[in-house]
Amino acid sequence: MSSVISVQGLTKIYKTPVREMGVKGVIKSLFARQYRTVLALDHISFSVEEGTSLGYLGPNGAGKTTTLKVLSGLLFPDDGQVQVLGFNPWEHKNAFKKQIGFVMGQKGQLWWDLSAQDSFPLLREMYEIPVRKYKSVLDELVERFAVADLLGVPVRNLSLGERMKMELIAALLHEPRVLFLDEPTIGLDVMAQHEIRALLKEYQRQRGVTLILASHYMRDVEALCERVILIHKGKILFDGMLDEIAKRYVPYKDLTFTLLEPVNRASFTIFGEIRSWDNNRVTLVVKQEQVSQAIQAVINRHSVVDISVREPTLEDVIHKAFSSFGYERENEQ
Ligand SMILES: Nc1ncnc2c1ncn2[C@@H]1O[C@H](COP(=O)(O)OP(=O)(O)OP(=O)(O)O)[C@@H](O)[C@H]1O
Ligand SMILES: [Mg+2]
Repeated sequence: MSSVISVQGLTKIYKTPVREMGVKGVIKSLFARQYRTVLALDHISFSVEEGTSLGYLGPNGAGKTTTLKVLSGLLFPDDGQVQVLGFNPWEHKNAFKKQIGFVMGQKGQLWWDLSAQDSFPLLREMYEIPVRKYKSVLDELVERFAVADLLGVPVRNLSLGERMKMELIAALLHEPRVLFLDEPTIGLDVMAQHEIRALLKEYQRQRGVTLILASHYMRDVEALCERVILIHKGKILFDGMLDEIAKRYVPYKDLTFTLLEPVNRASFTIFGEIRSWDNNRVTLVVKQEQVSQAIQAVINRHSVVDISVREPTLEDVIHKAFSSFGYERENEQ
């Protein structure tokens, strides 16, 4: 398989004017403008093979949206090389725009006062989609997303979940090969999040579209992506398969034993670190590769009524990963 996205040393610096308070500040800024610079992306590199669904995870301000904006050609980088489908994204070639889709959870592309059925033909023209093709793609998407009844409703009157479905249809009408999704489930209730994930997963599975999904929600990434990049303060902390993160950052499981009768706490420390202790219920923290050994050892010495094994959740793993790089919990949403 070939790379459809290749990013080398990508750097983006935002420069915003700052002004001191008061009249003095205004006068001073007329003569010597002060700027605040933010290093949003700090020499990041990665590549993406065709058909991959890549999760792009990071806390607020990590650089997720900035990356997607550069990859889709909305922003110029300050340094580095970027190729998407063989194009330089910011050259704004029509052929490039016709092959990518961008959905931003926080900012829709549909016209607020129009209904979807009035907006979609405008997109057809923008993307120069042949009429027959447009009709068949639209029919298929409307059925897939079950929105036939909502096509005539002005977008402003749709619920958030319904609007997101229309936004997705709008981004898929021209059948992009690469789809950028920036927090597509933000603000949705649990049911709607689940539905959007399921729809995206099915679409991705059937079409093999290359998908980059930026999100805070571990559930999005867990449901949709096999590979994940963790980004923090403009730097990539991890790039690999989802199951490798767990092995790297949380290589243990919690084993809980319910025992027939209370036992001495000290006698359990030999099996692993004790996470909690409650008379005849003990939870041990055990390395992944020593789980079966530990279970065997406990069973040999004690009368065990029940055993449960808890895998670390992706949330635990990601939190551990970020905290190992000095990311503080209070920064989290
Ligand atoms: N237009 C801008 N002008 C100045 N600074 C900006 C601008 N856009 C983003 N930044 C800064 O760049 C950094 C990265 O922002 P970005 O929006 O890419 O983060 P993000 O990972 O998408 O965060 P979030 O999860 O909050 O959406 C932040 O420090 C942000 O304040
Ligand atoms: Mg963002």
